[in-house]
Amino acid sequence: MRFTLDRREATQGTVDAIAVGIPERAEKEDAFPRALSKEDLAFGKALSAAWERREIRGKRKEVTIFHRPDGKGRLLVVGLGARTQVDLETIRNASAEAVRALKGRGARTLGFKLASFSSDRIPAEAAIRALVDGAALGGYEFLRYKTTSEGKVEDATIFLGEEAAREEAPLRKAMEQEEMLVETVLWTRDVANVPADTATPEWLAEQARAFGKEYNVKVTVFDEKKLAEMNCGGILGVGSGSSHPPRLIVLEYGGGARSGKTVAVVGKGITFDSGGISIKQAQGMSAMKYDKSGACAVLGVVRAAASLKVPPRVIGVMACAENLPGPTAYRPGDVLRTHSGKTIEVLNTDAEGRVVLSDALGYVVEHYHPDQVIDMATLTGACVVALGPDIAGLMSNDDGLAQALLDASHQTGEQLWRLPVTDTHREMVKSEIGDVRNSTEMREAGALTAAAFLENFVGGTAWAHLDIAGPGYNEGPISRYAPSYFNKGATAFGVRLVTRYLMTTPR
Ligand code: BES
Ligand code: ZN
Ligand code: ZN
Repeated sequence: MRFTLDRREATQGTVDAIAVGIPERAEKEDAFPRALSKEDLAFGKALSAAWERREIRGKRKEVTIFHRPDGKGRLLVVGLGARTQVDLETIRNASAEAVRALKGRGARTLGFKLASFSSDRIPAEAAIRALVDGAALGGYEFLRYKTTSEGKVEDATIFLGEEAAREEAPLRKAMEQEEMLVETVLWTRDVANVPADTATPEWLAEQARAFGKEYNVKVTVFDEKKLAEMNCGGILGVGSGSSHPPRLIVLEYGGGARSGKTVAVVGKGITFDSGGISIKQAQGMSAMKYDKSGACAVLGVVRAAASLKVPPRVIGVMACAENLPGPTAYRPGDVLRTHSGKTIEVLNTDAEGRVVLSDALGYVVEHYHPDQVIDMATLTGACVVALGPDIAGLMSNDDGLAQALLDASHQTGEQLWRLPVTDTHREMVKSEIGDVRNSTEMREAGALTAAAFLENFVGGTAWAHLDIAGPGYNEGPISRYAPSYFNKGATAFGVRLVTRYLMTTPR
């Protein structure tokens, strides 16, 4: 989707449809809102008539459509819910609802009346970012395997109207930055949605190489031979049951001018998680093609960081392998020797994410000495049980980093909740015959023991772990509760969040 800024009133443009936001109307609120009088006139007073008969209530997700008397143009009145509750997330959802209401309905261009979304509490820049997010992400479709498409909004215009008195440059910058960012989010969704028959570890490496050339990002791919030389027994162990061998993919973005800081971003890239010898049940197993979502988010973060030229140097590491049972698969009871030298006793081959991450974390910490490490992984079902489908778990050994990620999360709407890691959890992952074990004798605190396991491989570096098993993708009945700008399938959760963190973190 392309975005344009226009100083005029929305009614003066030539878009196929105009979207205006309207807060929920109070019980005794009878007077038609004056802010919409221009639109009302342009639409032959159809709006005030609908207001009069209480057709417009302003409830969230309510979209009322009007047509110009001359047939040239439509107007969508999008409900925002209670005025005092309107926030950036409301605007993202409203913008997505507008785009969705027009899907397959013959509209190619859509205009937003900015002043109906911005307010005293929501500055125009932030409102613009939210409109761009909602429209682009809400309109996303995964079209790789579709032979037909219904047609949708392709051009969006943000009309400044009353806001035109303001300086235009910061508004334009907000729009252009966000447009670049969401373009990468959509690209990331396209990569993460590809199923495991095509999206093998080597295929992910090819995606990384292709974008690296274009964005001047250095890409190094370690194949199974190289990984053996590097003593990466963790990722090799997990990948040993598949005929598609594992890859450790390293992406380097050099950082903005005079940058001093290095941030490593590490992702779990299981192209398919059958559970291995500790095989999963059939129900819902197809969703395990999304078990590479963490690594895909890393791909997206580095691409966005390079296109937006964020200040810090960013090292992305994708730990990619396929977890299948087979004659050469790793098994419960095996002991793996990782890059860091620490050994892992495998008790459950389905707890494979932490095993591939052990090598990725160990490698990046030893080789790049980053100031901070952030990992993203669809790591545990326990985290989904604890926090539900839309909130990621945040576990960290550094309060400053954790708070900075929470701040970024409040901006982007990608929700996080911090969970503890204590000595109890550290105790629970100790092994009797090796250094650590990949699963414990009980299910309790599964998200926390997984984090306690990972902590062994960051060597004291400031580290934050995002368990994105819930919000990384949407499938099944719980997808009903997802925001309007999340499609079915991969969400690219974490890309906007971590990129915003990188944009705002001090050097
Ligand atoms: N990929 C799964 C975690 C997962 C579950 C992601 C549901 C998304 C939705 C992970 O590899 C896994 O299987 N974890 C096990 C760990 C257990 C065996 C210690 C789990 O959560 O059950
Ligand atoms: Zn698993
Ligand atoms: Zn997994």
